[in-house]
Amino acid sequence: MKIIIINGPNLNLLGTREPNVYGTQTMETYFQTLKERYPDIVLEYFQSNVEGELINKLQQVGFTYNGIVLNAGAYTHTSIALLDCIKAITTPVVEVHISNVNSREDFRRHSMIAPACRGTIQGFGMDSYRLAVEAISEMAKG
Ligand code: DQA
Repeated sequence: MKIIIINGPNLNLLGTREPNVYGTQTMETYFQTLKERYPDIVLEYFQSNVEGELINKLQQVGFTYNGIVLNAGAYTHTSIALLDCIKAITTPVVEVHISNVNSREDFRRHSMIAPACRGTIQGFGMDSYRLAVEAISEMAKG
């Protein structure tokens, strides 16, 4: 079972970025605890602030991995290129948000990528990532 978490722009700043919205934990610390919790799953992590790099990574893993947990950050709301990419690959993608985007500004209510994703998990803080990993591993069991 191989799952990758892909984080988009500004998510490298987790821990210091708007802690009232995103909490105080760094992704590196969180990812470590996640790997310990799921020793039987091969978990990988990738982050980029660059849209094209996110697309390159999705294309690279998107035909062989069991699942992709994608927090596309602000590109969620704007990127037709990411939407097309998720449609083009075969690995299921679970859209994730740390915050509850529906309870924030109006422009965050629309996800450009949601129609191509298997489902969306949002609003549970960093635990949103774990819930997505759970969803993918259950899905893979069939
Ligand atoms: C986010 C929500 C997005 O609206 C925002 O642009 C982010 C983070 C979240 O995880 O809550 O960068 O995806």
